Amino acid sequence: MARSVASIVAGQPVAGAPGGTLQRPNPGRTAELVTEISLGDASTFVEAAQAAKAAQRSWADVPAPVRGSAIGKIGRLVEANKDRLARIVTEEIGKPLAEALGEVQEIIDTCDFFLGEGRRLYGQTVPSEMPDKQLFTFRNPVGAVAVITAGNFPVAVPAWYLVPALVTGNTVVWKPAEYAAASAKALFELFVHGGGLPDGVLNLVLADGEQTYAGLEASLDAGLVDKVGFTGSTLVGQKIGALCGSHLQTPCLELGGKNPQVVTPSANLDLAVEGALFSGFGTAGQRCTSLGTLLVHESVHEDFLARFDTASRAARIGDAFEDVLYGPMLDERFARRYETFLGWIKDHHSTYGSDGIGRITADNPRKGFVGDPDAGMFYHPVIVDGVRRDDDLFLSETFGPIVSVATYRDFDEALDLANAHGYGLSAAIYTSDPHEVWSFRRGISAGMVSVNNTTSGAEAHLPFGGNGKSGNGSRQSGQWVLDQFTRWQSMNWDHSGRLQKAQMDVAALEPDMAFRL
Ligand code: UN1
Repeated sequence: MARSVASIVAGQPVAGAPGGTLQRPNPGRTAELVTEISLGDASTFVEAAQAAKAAQRSWADVPAPVRGSAIGKIGRLVEANKDRLARIVTEEIGKPLAEALGEVQEIIDTCDFFLGEGRRLYGQTVPSEMPDKQLFTFRNPVGAVAVITAGNFPVAVPAWYLVPALVTGNTVVWKPAEYAAASAKALFELFVHGGGLPDGVLNLVLADGEQTYAGLEASLDAGLVDKVGFTGSTLVGQKIGALCGSHLQTPCLELGGKNPQVVTPSANLDLAVEGALFSGFGTAGQRCTSLGTLLVHESVHEDFLARFDTASRAARIGDAFEDVLYGPMLDERFARRYETFLGWIKDHHSTYGSDGIGRITADNPRKGFVGDPDAGMFYHPVIVDGVRRDDDLFLSETFGPIVSVATYRDFDEALDLANAHGYGLSAAIYTSDPHEVWSFRRGISAGMVSVNNTTSGAEAHLPFGGNGKSGNGSRQSGQWVLDQFTRWQSMNWDHSGRLQKAQMDVAALEPDMAFRL
């Protein structure tokens, strides 16, 4: 039976559907309705921002260790509901169950990391240049935070924002992807129940992109939002960045990727194939960290391509509740967009990896497909060889099960190609040459580098984020995300009883600078 989901503002479900209603099927079984969504509009967003703003001061007054302990309880509740939450994710966006369980584990890991932050949130004591004066630093919450997230990681990526934002004393308006509303609602409930969060501390807004943008703009104009976190496309990130910039705010932007994997002559080719298969086609290529282009040394190109083709043809694809490499596309809009990416395959390319290209159907079958391909939005994996640096396939992110392959002659060319697209999220190199490892690390533009490991699958406590078209340099996760959700405040306290002027009333010792040994 379909779940009904609506926005929740200040603890109350929003009545009606000012933004219209949306019916969402299971993308792997499109005849099955999963969610009925009542969409809010720009005013729903503004009301949520008002609620968050109103609740912020008293949430910040809750002692940080108590907030940390709430995060700990949320983690335990998510753990107790791990299987249930993962199944909702699989049903709603077609992510294979094993991956969905991993995604839920990422929330638990994030809570485990940040529960201690409530007892840490360290500031510093700093020596003053004058006597009887003390200097200190404090981390202050930024205020009310708007978090806008994509639906390919419908619960883990939101948790990367919500957990550190809440533990540091911010309140939140969260606008998840509409097509992942049931997963969002489930996560929202786990946070509210597990955390015992007072009304208004966390608000859920379901709205389309246009209404969200209008609501965000109005909220920024009214001074209701102090920080924006956004995970999604580069194009929308640019718009949000510009909007925030005009309000003198720096958003936390986690955008697209065109993540390269370099395969050098000294690489373990089987390992490199295994890595390419998982990062290229896992999650049906719908991670921001998914493999974009393989850069393969000309001496191993033929061998590597043959092995990758074999592995791709043998991979199990289909019903996301079974043991498969990947299931359907997340949503119809991703399927449609993916078909335009397939149009970027040109005559100078050759394709590998499956029995066909495009949608898998009874008429365009794939050997070994698990389940009924006509029941959902399933696509053949495609490996496109012969990609050149001016091809669309080389230059732009292609969300979906498509991997480009280009060859290179020497290391400098590999590095140049690995940076040439202007994204900078994640990059991998397979090599057994330490010199190549360090040269790659130093020369690559990406925020995240993998050695003999894939572009996707980052651990939840390392800094996550990109450069260039992948983001504005903000980092999520681990201790690094604290700088997104807190602002440093410095304090000086003079207890000398007189006005001591900095830089002027400072004692100086008398050195003898003419001294020589
Ligand atoms: C994303 O696709 O937005 O590193 C996040 C990874 C996952 C997160 C991906 N842990 O692939």
